[in-house]
Amino acid sequence: MKQLTYGMVGGGPGAFIGDAHRKAVSLDRSADLVAGCFSSDPEKSKQQGKNLGIDPERCYANYLEMAEKESQREDGIDFVVIVTPNNTHYEIAKKFLESGINVSCDKPVVTDLEQARDLQETAREHDCLFMVTYTYTGHLTAKYIRELIRTGEIGEVRTVMAEYPQGWLYNENDCGGKQGAWRCDPKQSGRVNCLGDLGTHVENIVSMMTGLKIKKLLAKLDVVVPGRVLDDNDQVLVEYESGATGIYWTSQFAIGCDNSLRIRIFGSKGTISWFQEEPEQIILIREDGIQQVIKRGYGVIPEQVAKYGRLPAGHTEGWIEAMGNLYDNFTDCLQAKKEGKFNPSMIDFQTIDAGVEGLEFIEACLESNVNGNKWVTL
Ligand SMILES: NC(=O)c1ccc[n+]([C@@H]2O[C@H](COP(=O)([O-])OP(=O)(O)OC[C@H]3O[C@@H](n4cnc5c(N)ncnc54)[C@H](O)[C@@H]3O)[C@@H](O)[C@H]2O)c1
Repeated sequence: MKQLTYGMVGGGPGAFIGDAHRKAVSLDRSADLVAGCFSSDPEKSKQQGKNLGIDPERCYANYLEMAEKESQREDGIDFVVIVTPNNTHYEIAKKFLESGINVSCDKPVVTDLEQARDLQETAREHDCLFMVTYTYTGHLTAKYIRELIRTGEIGEVRTVMAEYPQGWLYNENDCGGKQGAWRCDPKQSGRVNCLGDLGTHVENIVSMMTGLKIKKLLAKLDVVVPGRVLDDNDQVLVEYESGATGIYWTSQFAIGCDNSLRIRIFGSKGTISWFQEEPEQIILIREDGIQQVIKRGYGVIPEQVAKYGRLPAGHTEGWIEAMGNLYDNFTDCLQAKKEGKFNPSMIDFQTIDAGVEGLEFIEACLESNVNGNKWVTL
């Protein structure tokens, strides 16, 4: 039984992902929420704390006060969850790390490569664990694809086709409410919108599933919907260190697409296909063309992956469970750390190292795009 507590920065009234994190953490009782600074508006933060049953004394007016007070308490939080707009992640994460508090931060981890490297270094200096919540990597099927590729089921990976189109920002007269407003604003989103929001997911999950490292890339980042200033449609050609290649496409105006992250990995002995909106199945096609649908619950999936399932096959598990899986492993590591039993080989979540790779990807895409879509070596 884990006995951990956490605090949250962001996730105020009407916010999107903060509530999903809270539900995901509570799925397996991974930790209890006991503190927070839920909004940049202290009144809204207090109100949200009340809604969530947080002790008013631990509901803070700003994250600085929260980090200082929590680090001084005997029963201070074990980790903080950062679910604010992108431009604020760096200063918040830095403050908590310097206070000796472990961090879970949503992606893109920051808006600048130097900041990402600095957080990597700060986490190391203060001996803190740092998870970047690339939600899709928590799906049991994503973890099993990693195993299938590791064990050579499709041979050498030759090429990857990966796309993540959405349609919610298609309308030039409406930029998608509160969530869309900050994503389309360079002051809050950083130098990219679509690439940070969706492209980093693609870069990360391909890397997680295949283990391939990008050697060079060529990017075309387009601003298409009238009135927008940041990219809303991105196409990236990739060459990996192994010599394999990839094509990544992300869009926010693809009408009819919701969260249509689709990965197809073509190897020398077979093909794997996975679609985020149907996350309970993997399609595996071997040389003879026979197509297999792999599902959990039948004993095919090895225990180190199958353990992430909670229900019998057919009782569907999805996105919240994937996020819950990240927290299950993150808190296992934190509990072990508390008991002096932690070993880095226990980590099965995306760390700040993946966050740094995400920023390397973004910077290389920006450089390629601004220089007339030239190849850039990472
Ligand atoms: N992992 C995923 O799949 C996924 C999905 C959606 C969003 N995200 C990421 O999560 C983050 C939040 O996105 P969202 O869609 O939930 O945004 P949102 O606008 O719905 O919520 C942001 C919240 O942060 C609060 N906030 C802003 N500045 C703050 C501050 N200084 N202190 C305390 N609270 C503050 C706002 O009041 C709001 O409650 C972003 O980085 C986004 O990229 C990740």
